[in-house]
Amino acid sequence: MSKGTFYITTPIYYPSDKLHIGHAYCTVATDTITRYKRMCGYDAMFLTGTDEHGQKIEERAKAKGVTPKQFVDEIVEGKGGILDLWKLMNISNNRFIRTTDDYHVEAIQKIFKQMYDKGDIYKGSYKGKYCTPCESFWTESQLIDGKCPDCGREVHESEEEAYFFRLSKYADRVQALLETPGFLEPASRANEMINNFIKPGLEDLCVSRTTFKWGIPVSFDPDHVVYVWIDALSNYITALGYANDKYDDFDKFWPADVHMIGKEIVRFHSIIWPAMLMSLELPLPKKIYGHGWLLIDGGKMSKSKGNVVDPLLLAERYGVDSLRYFLIREFPLGSDGNFTNEALIGRINNDLANDFGNLVSRTVAMVLKYFNGTLPDEREPAPIDNELIEMAKGLRDIYEQDMDNFQTQTAVIEVFKVISRANKYIDETAPWVLAKDEANKARLATVMYNLLETIRITVTLLQPVIPESCEKAFAQIGADDKDRTWDNAGTFGVLRANVTVCKGDTLFPRIDLEKELAALEAINTKNSAPEAPAPVSVTIDEFAKVKMTICKVLECENVKKSDKLLKFKLDDGSGTPRQILSGIAKYYKPEDLIGKTVVACTNLPPRKMMGEESNGMLLSAEKDDRLNLLILDDAIPAGASLC
Ligand code: MSP
Repeated sequence: MSKGTFYITTPIYYPSDKLHIGHAYCTVATDTITRYKRMCGYDAMFLTGTDEHGQKIEERAKAKGVTPKQFVDEIVEGKGGILDLWKLMNISNNRFIRTTDDYHVEAIQKIFKQMYDKGDIYKGSYKGKYCTPCESFWTESQLIDGKCPDCGREVHESEEEAYFFRLSKYADRVQALLETPGFLEPASRANEMINNFIKPGLEDLCVSRTTFKWGIPVSFDPDHVVYVWIDALSNYITALGYANDKYDDFDKFWPADVHMIGKEIVRFHSIIWPAMLMSLELPLPKKIYGHGWLLIDGGKMSKSKGNVVDPLLLAERYGVDSLRYFLIREFPLGSDGNFTNEALIGRINNDLANDFGNLVSRTVAMVLKYFNGTLPDEREPAPIDNELIEMAKGLRDIYEQDMDNFQTQTAVIEVFKVISRANKYIDETAPWVLAKDEANKARLATVMYNLLETIRITVTLLQPVIPESCEKAFAQIGADDKDRTWDNAGTFGVLRANVTVCKGDTLFPRIDLEKELAALEAINTKNSAPEAPAPVSVTIDEFAKVKMTICKVLECENVKKSDKLLKFKLDDGSGTPRQILSGIAKYYKPEDLIGKTVVACTNLPPRKMMGEESNGMLLSAEKDDRLNLLILDDAIPAGASLC
């Protein structure tokens, strides 16, 4: 019997680059919670997907010389792409939405029109500070040190005719929602939203763009594409069939029980999304959970620092469950945490190999050795058993409370307390001593049974985190399907008395920490060679600002005490010789350049090098270790411009 429905979502990911371990964190956490809910008996719907529109994708595709759709297809569906990653990570999502899916496109056009018809979207003109990477307009007062408050990058002045959403109209209702206990968690994030965005006055939101094409066209004004966040947020309802015929379980699952998201997109989910739903007159999600970030050396994960940790690589190296376990056990869901390879290997060795794996393999090995694999029926309980039994019996309720509060880390810690207690129980009861005397047979069987039962309960509760390894552990301790259920996790004594164990592979082999760290470092060094920056497009007006002047070399000599610099006196057609320093001494003898016709950028600000002033820059071409100065035909007069 189903306990009811449970609808949980992750953000839909930007397929603009390969996903890193921080992205996997959110999805693994969501998967763990979903599996937990399913185990408890809920009919759970887990949605994830990709957010494929926007200027950033359009630019990335252009730089790669492919269409935006080809570009995203490769990252989403290509080898080692997002779908492959989730498959490898054992993510049990029920649905995967791509915002380029036809049904979603059609639904967004209807949603936009519905809000327009209601008068909640109107046409105006937008002048403000625009952050291209975040695709967000900001007001002057929202900027932090003149930069984008979300990502800290430069913003630029931009003006365009646009549609606006009357966000301001919903300010009071949104504030009341944010003040509702449990709506936005952790609670501190709600105060942040109220203080930073609601109290200063919620402004209407610009919800269409005309400066690029890669988006969903506004059906009644196709020069405009729908703002990517309106398009993206709506995925949570279009994927259930809202405003489209592809699915029909909107009534069954909406409102969502929880939107799991990273902390930097809380504003979109807790302010803009509820206001959109209010406009559409739809029920609001029950909870937004803003989890923390995985950091590296206290900072953001980014390729530029050469420290991206590839989840595919790590999962292939250590096994998916090790990685899943680490992500859940190491970091408290609501706060930031520091990711290190050392911590990952430490968790695998200490928790999974030493504590958990060892408990299973020792217990199974002893049942095999002392009882040929099958326990006899006889029992002889002793007071020393009670503490372990009580802990194992009480574990499910503690775990349930933690999981229901999204305290996934604490839930796992509680399970491992019982695992540690079981290991201690082995030392206390010393089965190898009991085994020496046939008279202790019933007592030894009791100890073994208590261990197997403790393993059964802990493994049941670890299923949402490390599902594959739990399957293997269940097989080893002889647990059948009914022994693995949520109901039976709260009871001690479920395994049949004469249970038969089965030897299996080591669940989590130990890793040589030093060797492994060295191997990872070598991989990191190889992979972190700086990527060529994406080409930046400039307008013709911007390009025209650069002044390129044809110059004749009047004089050329080495700069004293410098191996690199040559000092040029140039005729630039102005009548006054221009001095330029150029770092090409390694490639040219000064005397070979006198009389040559060269090209200089002549409107750069003056710069001092080795005590000498340089008024411009000579153009040259460089590849690998070769460099050629741009030398033109002598027939071109000094002062001519490059055009
Ligand atoms: N496309 C938007 C979401 C739209 S939802 C309607 C987006 N995509 S994203 O790919 O940039 O990020 C997806 C999720 O990954 C976000 O929740 C983000 O917080 C999370 N993470 C990105 N880097 C992260 C870490 N380093 N650590 C933890 N989570 C991180 O935002």
